[in-house]
Parts: sequence; structure tokens; C-alpha cells
Amino acid sequence: MKAAILTISDRCARGEMDDLTGPLISDTLTGAGLAVVDLGLVPDERDRIEAELVRLADQVGADVVFTNGGTGLGPRDVTPEATAAVVDRPVPGIPEAMRVGSLPQTPTAMLSRGLAGIRGRALIVNLPGSPRAARECLDTLLPVLGHAVEMMAGGGHE
Ligand code: MTE
Repeated sequence: MKAAILTISDRCARGEMDDLTGPLISDTLTGAGLAVVDLGLVPDERDRIEAELVRLADQVGADVVFTNGGTGLGPRDVTPEATAAVVDRPVPGIPEAMRVGSLPQTPTAMLSRGLAGIRGRALIVNLPGSPRAARECLDTLLPVLGHAVEMMAGGGHE
């Protein structure tokens, strides 16, 4: 399974902060047996985010694209809007499960507006931006990710 990661952060893009979350997601996915084929970084600019998501899904051919950051309530947080603009079909159960799974440890999990959806053959999933948040959300999703990708490729439930 090919995975791509897109960090969305003004501060990381300006070089004011190191991107810790992208590499953490990469290590987690690699440990789970996925091949990480792209690890990018863009500021919180809707056009830039949309263009990268389209490139990763359509040209790179990732089975799954994980964004991190820009899902909160701040005026510059536009990752969900960019994602909604490029997906064909939403998959609301994924962010619902990630929020519910995180809430017992982290009440602020309800403040992530992250989405998931399918573009062509790629599943795009928004993760929150902090390393711990991304890790908690991946812990919820990873056990069912293989089944999700099989179903997108036309596989059955057997
Ligand atoms: N989800 C989990 N599992 N753990 C967290 O620490 N942080 C929350 C939320 N989701 C958090 C979480 C907080 S404080 C915010 S503001 C939102 O994610 C949005 O984060 P983002 O803007 O970096 O995407």
C-alpha cells in the first residue's frame, strides 16, 4: 500500500518550527508495513493544499494520503475545506471514529474539523497537527485501513 503525507503548517513552511508530525506519521506507517512515497510540506493556503492533494492522488498514485495540521478553528485552518473541494465521496466515519477514539484522553479532540474522502482510487484523511494527536488518530484508523483500500479497489468483504 502506497502512502503519501502532507504537512500543512505556516510556521513549518516559514522555517520557524521543525516538522515533527510528518516524520512521525511516516515512521508509524512504515512500521505498519506501508510504503511512504511522498512527504511534503505546504503553508495553510487553500490553493496550495488542493494542488498537492490532486498531485498525490492523481499523479503519484498514492492509495492513501494523510494530511496533518490546519483542521482546527483558527482563521488560517482551511485543510478540511481544501479536502472537501477535491474528494469525490466523503467517508465521514473515519474522522468520527478518530474523534471519538481520542476524546477519553483528549477532550480537545472535538476541536478538529478533519475530514476523510475518496478521490479516484485514493483515500485522503485529515489528521490533526500535533504529533500526539496524529498518533492517537492513526491508532484508531490503522487496524481498518487495509480493508478500506481493498474496498476502494473493488474488493469484497470476505
Ligand atoms: N486529537 C487528538 N487525538 N489529540 C489531540 O491532542 N488536539 C486537538 C484536536 N485533535 C488533539 C486532537 C486540538 S487542541 C486542536 S486545535 C485540533 O485537533 C486541530 O489541530 P490542527 O489545527 O493542528 O489540525
